[in-house]
Amino acid sequence: MKHNFGAGPCILPKEVFEEASRAVIDFNGTGLSILEISHRSKEFEEVVIETEKLVRELLEVPAGYSILFLQGGASQQFAMVPMNLLPENGKASYLDTGVWATKAAKEAKKVGQVEIVASSSDKNYTYIPKDFVVPSDAAYFHYTSNNTIYGTEVFEKPNTSVTTVVDMSSDILSRTINVSEFGLIYAGAQKNMGPAGVTLVIIKDDLFAKSGRTIPTIFDYEAHAKAGSMYNTPPVFSIYVSMLNLRWLKAKGGISVIEQENIIKARTLYDEIDRNPFFKGTAAVEDRSRMNVTFVMDTPELEAEFLALAKERNLIGIKGHRSVGGFRASIYNALSISSINALVDTMREFEEKKK
Ligand SMILES: Cc1ncc(COP(=O)(O)O)c(C=O)c1O
Repeated sequence: MKHNFGAGPCILPKEVFEEASRAVIDFNGTGLSILEISHRSKEFEEVVIETEKLVRELLEVPAGYSILFLQGGASQQFAMVPMNLLPENGKASYLDTGVWATKAAKEAKKVGQVEIVASSSDKNYTYIPKDFVVPSDAAYFHYTSNNTIYGTEVFEKPNTSVTTVVDMSSDILSRTINVSEFGLIYAGAQKNMGPAGVTLVIIKDDLFAKSGRTIPTIFDYEAHAKAGSMYNTPPVFSIYVSMLNLRWLKAKGGISVIEQENIIKARTLYDEIDRNPFFKGTAAVEDRSRMNVTFVMDTPELEAEFLALAKERNLIGIKGHRSVGGFRASIYNALSISSINALVDTMREFEEKKK
C-alpha cells in the first residue's frame, strides 16, 4: 500500500475513487459515462445542486452567500478577485506569507493599487506576521490561510473590519470556519475537496460588481452565480468527484469530526519531529500547519538517505518544495492516521539505523 503525502493533486478516499470509476462506465444506471453526459442534463443538474448543498451544509454557509464552481484554479482567482472587488480608484491590502500570497498580490497589482500590510519574507516565510493594521479604507484585505509550501497556517481570521478575502486552497474543509467573517473564500479543489479542475468560490452577494469595472463575463462572479455555475460548460467530472468526496466527509460526521482527526494526525507527526534528533521542523511552532508539515535534516546527504528509505517504505510525495528543501508531508483529510504512523515508524527506523 502506498502512503500518498503529495501536496496536490493528492489523496482522496478510496471509496471515492471506486465510485467515480464505476460512474466513468455507467453513471447512475443511465447507460452513459459521467464523461459523456450533457452538463445541461437533469442528472448533472442534480449533481451540481447536491454538491452545492453539501458545501453549504458542511461549511454552514449562511444565506446571502453564493457558492460557485469555476475553472482556472486558485490562480485565476488571483485575478478575478481584484477585477470584481477593486474599484479603479481603490486600494487592496495583502498579507504576504509565501509564494501563493505573493502571486495573488502580484496579479492584483496588474489590476489596481495594492498595499502589502506585512510580510514574513525576511525569514523565508517560516512564520505568520501578527502585528499589522489593515487600513480601514482598503477595498478588501486578502490573505492565504494555509501556506502549502512553507507549512504555516492562519487559524484565526486577522482582526479587521475590512471585507476579507481568503485563499483557503489547502485547508478548506479541514477545520471549522465561520463563513460570515469573510466576504469571499476561494479554493482550488485539488487538496481536500476533490480532483483538480474545479475551484470553489463562496462569495457574499453584496460584493457582486463591487469594483464598478467593465470586465469580461467569464470573469464576473455575478454572471456565474446567476447561471448557477453553468455560464459555460463546467468541469463535469471534477464537480461529480467533489460531490462524492463531500458525501464521504458528511458520512464521517462532518468537519468537526475530521478536524479532530487532523489535530491528532498533525500532533503525532510534529511530536516525532520534535523528539527525533535527526529531524527539525521549519515553521514557527505557533504557526504550524495541520495540512502541510515541513521539516529538514542536518545535511543533504542525510536527507537523500532518508528519502531513499521512505521510498522503500512506500511513502510517496514527501520531498520538500524547492524553496524550503527537506521534506513536506501533506496530511490532508483523506490521509489516514495509519499513513502518519508509517511515516513516524520510518523516522524511528532511520534514527535506530544511524545511532
Ligand atoms: C494556497 C494555494 N493557493 C493557490 C494555489 C494555486 O492553485 P492552482 O494551481 O489551482 O491555480 C495553490 C496550489 O497549490 C495553493 O496551495
